[in-house]
Amino acid sequence: MEFISNCTADAISKAAQSLKDGHLVAFPTETVYGLGADATNEKAVLRIYSVKGRPVGHPLIVHISSINKLDQWASDIPDYAIKLAREFWPGPMTLILPRTDLAKDFITGGQNNVGLRVPAQPVALALLRKFEDLGRQGVAAPSANRFGAVSPTTAEAVGEELGNFLDSKDSVIDGGACLVGIESTIIDCTGLEPVVLRPGAITEEMIELALEKKIEKIKIISGIKSPGLMNSHYAPKAKISLNSIAEAGQGFIALSKIQTPLGAIRLASPDTLEQFARYLYSALRSADQQGLAKIAIQVPEGPGLAKAIRDRLTKASTR
Ligand code: TXA
Ligand code: MG
Repeated sequence: MEFISNCTADAISKAAQSLKDGHLVAFPTETVYGLGADATNEKAVLRIYSVKGRPVGHPLIVHISSINKLDQWASDIPDYAIKLAREFWPGPMTLILPRTDLAKDFITGGQNNVGLRVPAQPVALALLRKFEDLGRQGVAAPSANRFGAVSPTTAEAVGEELGNFLDSKDSVIDGGACLVGIESTIIDCTGLEPVVLRPGAITEEMIELALEKKIEKIKIISGIKSPGLMNSHYAPKAKISLNSIAEAGQGFIALSKIQTPLGAIRLASPDTLEQFARYLYSALRSADQQGLAKIAIQVPEGPGLAKAIRDRLTKASTR
């Protein structure tokens, strides 16, 4: 695999061409790194599954450069979804919408809907624009980790996760550490009302403000296939215990105002919820690198981003 650390316009053009040629390109987004493939190329998309070790048939998010490309992939788009897209794209939000013929079963897991996102990350947007300039329509990209593992928030972490599984013609673009740090908010927009399937940095409060009305709170919908909603996910090797007191030699993550228990190994000391989300996954990775058996995490309380952090922590602690 090629590691691209100098994101010049030329390097990004080459990466776009490489996607068009059917190779995989891992790239930074504001949430986590994605493992990208041409979303219309079945062979390339199937390689995503084998590189990730992900069961085939799980739907993938298609990344596009702008709201103007939405019609290529989605039809019968409800007004509230247009409002959300105008308000929050580019940004950490994925909309599930009824698909057009362009979204094949190998992208949607055989469902009649497709997940779409315009990421707010300059390298990602430049790559998507270049790719579209080559006459292509979108980049399928799940988080660039092995199935069930912690999403990578740096290019080095992508290398650790997938280095052994990528080919010599695949590449990883290093665009620095991700600012948000946890995956996008996923909103099901196939019904009369929006339903949040995965909480994220676009919070329920922000959605309600944008739509000027109350929305349904997160619920697990049977019938819609969304493996990120599975109970165990985003998990490091170390065992995570929530709201227990860390013992000596164990990892510890909490807001900076909370003191480190005697002998515990502090893995992150975020001052804010934003920092908690941003540094969480690299802290989990660092626990594994240090070979820690257990991480005690003090879970942040309250609405908004805290809810998204709790969602990931609950999944990471479930086996
Ligand atoms: O922030 C993100 O969303 C990152 C970056 C790279 O964009 N991507 C990401 O992709 O987290 P992934 O595949 O790791 O998680 C996407 C989740 C999965 O649980 C998938 O099942 C669900 O979104 N999903 C994708 N398309 C869907 C669809 N059409 N219907 C229901 N769920 C869908
Ligand atoms: Mg993922």
